[in-house]
Amino acid sequence: MRTQVGIIGGGPSGLLLSQLLHLRGIETVLLEKHSRDYVLGRIRAGVLEHGFAELMREAQVAERMEREGQVHEGFFIAHDGVRDRVDLHALTGGKSVIVYGQTELTRDLYEARDRLGGRVIHNAEDVTPHDIATQRPYLTYRLGRQAARIDCDFVVGCDGFHGVSRQSIPPEHLQVFERTYPFGWLGVLSRTPPVSPELIYATHERGFALCSLRSSTLSRYYIQVPLSDTVEAWSDEEFFQELRCRLPEDVARAMIIGPSIEKSIAPLRSFVAEPMSFGRLFLAGDAAHIVPPTGARGLNTAASDIYYLYHALLDHYLNGDDRGLEGYSQRALARVWKGQRFSWWMTMLLHRFPDNTPYEQRLQRTELAYLLSSQQALASLAENYVGLPFA
Ligand code: PHB
Repeated sequence: MRTQVGIIGGGPSGLLLSQLLHLRGIETVLLEKHSRDYVLGRIRAGVLEHGFAELMREAQVAERMEREGQVHEGFFIAHDGVRDRVDLHALTGGKSVIVYGQTELTRDLYEARDRLGGRVIHNAEDVTPHDIATQRPYLTYRLGRQAARIDCDFVVGCDGFHGVSRQSIPPEHLQVFERTYPFGWLGVLSRTPPVSPELIYATHERGFALCSLRSSTLSRYYIQVPLSDTVEAWSDEEFFQELRCRLPEDVARAMIIGPSIEKSIAPLRSFVAEPMSFGRLFLAGDAAHIVPPTGARGLNTAASDIYYLYHALLDHYLNGDDRGLEGYSQRALARVWKGQRFSWWMTMLLHRFPDNTPYEQRLQRTELAYLLSSQQALASLAENYVGLPFA
């Protein structure tokens, strides 16, 4: 088989890129190692910035997002038994975010690919990029016992942190920057009305907590837990008891509790691999970088990668101009690092760090007090939360 752009990974990044390119007449084949049901069974992020929504519109897949997604013009920071509202709309001159689950937008993208007859191959095993340093890269994979090969002009790796794409760059050409945090987030999805129509980020001496949502009937809650904890060790009752304990009393009292329909622990980590391209292989999203979830930057940073790569590929195919492809890594990384900085800052601001000295604890409290007392500091938070411009 031959195509123009071979894409590895059928998450939102790979699907969005294949959809955008298809609409401009550029052929893609997308290889995904799991089944579609598996991909759509994963509970992931839920906060979309303006630029992401714009890309969904350009890809002609925004209809359900516009209808069912919720526009959020602010969120709360809870601390010391009270909560302060961060007015995103006022602080950014009218910007907001959309709460719409990654699972839902992935479903919308699959449906759009089906409608246009996009080539999406599921259960592709042993996907391997070859000759990426040459002008003629190709991909091999297996479907059951059937081996197959796709020749392409470019390979795009959207296959996540554990994917094969980044690993196929020779290690001497890759520099890795990493930070791990001594805790994770225990997350629960429950079919209950959310306790607050807007997100609540809570800091407490027992640890961080977050009240989020997917819809008016679906709540998503998180608490900071030690890395040694397991999902099995937390019953639903214990989870909600701990969550309520970290929230202001009025919020805790108002919370409606129900059985979890999903429960998982995600360790927090920051990771960047540089450069984000090698020869004719280009990395996007989690394949190249990871952020802790605190600033809701993960999916949104993947979207800016796709934006740069999409325009670079358009310039190559429609204008014969390769400057976008040559500059992709540098351009994407400039924004990736701003997302890293913001996620790190929000993580440091709101979590309990077991090894912090009393001095560091005072500094952390002062950072929060300063933030909440300064319109300039709040404006900086808001500007980053709604998403820095792509250009
Ligand atoms: C979520 O709803 O899953 C969520 C929202 C905001 C975050 C992280 C996760 O910062």
